[in-house]
Amino acid sequence: MTAAPTTAPREAFTGQVGFILAAIGSAVGLGNIWRFPGVAYENGGGAFLIPYVVALLTAGIPILFLDYAIGHRFRGAAPTALRRLGGARAGRLLEGLGWFQVAIAFVIGLYYTVVIAWALSYFVFSFDIRWGDDPAGFFTGEYLRVSDPGLSLDFVPGVLLPLVLVWIATIAVLGLGVAKGIQRANVIFLPLLLVGFLALVVRALFLDGSAAGLNALFTPDFAALVNPDVWIAAYSQIFFSLSIAFGIMITYSSYRRRRSNLTAPALVVAFANSSFEILAGIGVFATLGFFAVQQGVAVGELEGLTGVGLSFITFPAIVAEMPGGPIFGALFFGSLVMAGFTSLLSVLQVVSAAFQEKFGVGPRAAAATIGGVSAVLSILLFSTTSGLIALDTVDHYVNNLGIVGSAVLTTVLVILVLRRGAELRGHLTAVSTFPVGRIWTVLVGALAPLVLGFMLVSRIIALLTEGYEGYPPLYLGIVGWGSLLLIAVLAVALTALRWRRSPDDFTPWPAPHQLPTSTTGGSR
Ligand code: ALA
Repeated sequence: MTAAPTTAPREAFTGQVGFILAAIGSAVGLGNIWRFPGVAYENGGGAFLIPYVVALLTAGIPILFLDYAIGHRFRGAAPTALRRLGGARAGRLLEGLGWFQVAIAFVIGLYYTVVIAWALSYFVFSFDIRWGDDPAGFFTGEYLRVSDPGLSLDFVPGVLLPLVLVWIATIAVLGLGVAKGIQRANVIFLPLLLVGFLALVVRALFLDGSAAGLNALFTPDFAALVNPDVWIAAYSQIFFSLSIAFGIMITYSSYRRRRSNLTAPALVVAFANSSFEILAGIGVFATLGFFAVQQGVAVGELEGLTGVGLSFITFPAIVAEMPGGPIFGALFFGSLVMAGFTSLLSVLQVVSAAFQEKFGVGPRAAAATIGGVSAVLSILLFSTTSGLIALDTVDHYVNNLGIVGSAVLTTVLVILVLRRGAELRGHLTAVSTFPVGRIWTVLVGALAPLVLGFMLVSRIIALLTEGYEGYPPLYLGIVGWGSLLLIAVLAVALTALRWRRSPDDFTPWPAPHQLPTSTTGGSR
């Protein structure tokens, strides 16, 4: 039996290639360029690749399959699709889980835009090396005017302007819809990113000292493998980087047509994302090798090899010393902007799609409302002198507890409690080019909840006992734990609101091979 559509025809990517480009655009983001190289270096260098690949194979790809299956079979943003999956028995509860994922995406969107705005400023600053010979002082002083941890309302105009531009561009693209907006933006920016970033990596490899940098990154420290924190870092990196467990891949796969291969594109996306990540590691560390040789020190003695410091302090310092530095700087920050922007679109589409479905509005109205509210909040919270520390704190708590918590809840509820593994595996197998074995159900139903549950508990204990970065406990309570509380409250409140039109009158898509041939063209 085919499902009678209960709502207006759903937006769709124009085809498999459009979907794959958008999904790669989502996965390849700030996480690949500014997070991966430092995380790999800090957690065992070359040896980190072992937990990284294990995390990719045991949780990353299996949960990517799970997200794709849920989104495609139940054709909706996270709250809609999960509610339909839950059915009469657990629909409400699973809708709540969907809104939990949407709220995570909402909070990430608030600060992700800010980092893109910094990168946009630095793209412009690269041309005249605006930071001069004191990149650290310039970044935290002149540019961000960082104050002590707290909540200030002292706005920084240098951040405010690019931030407003990023929000306008985002709202405009989302308002154009899935095919004309999101897909088209990815078709433009993804090739540009690839060409720009490849040029940067090739240039980096020809710098004096690049080999020293690569040695520093890839020389394995196998002792690191017995440290659980290294494994936790690998799993967290994979989740954020593959855009899984916070609604993105559910939403994107819901925009695919009925006869859509799911598993092969998932492997393409995962492979492309990890390849880009390794490429970023090579580019960044080859460049650091050059810098270390210039300074006459070992790479390990350089400061600021991770996160914000790496991109916005160490890199600018290198650019200032390098022949052709302005072009190199423009390539690096231009890549950050493009990679970040295509990911940001996916993060906010999670929120926009969920609102469109629950409140019966179109893409334009949703983009304007969600984008407007988010823009104001992100300006208030992160374009002030307290923005950097707030951003760092929220990012840490939401990634380590929010996303991982959502992955645990999803796998436990969908696979263990509701026992829908076989159905979703059947769906994946029926629509895809290669069958999904039982091992998948074991991975998402047993191994992932166990490993991720352990990670979650150990992170909670560590944050409760050790805090984070030495920030005052009251501050961490309000900003770190507070952002998680906000996510939970939003999830409950949005679940409680009435649907404009009930999403429950719905039949999951049967697999194509189960459909009579005459009906297979109908809802394509
Ligand atoms: N997957 C995106 C990133 O890596 C969110 O930044």
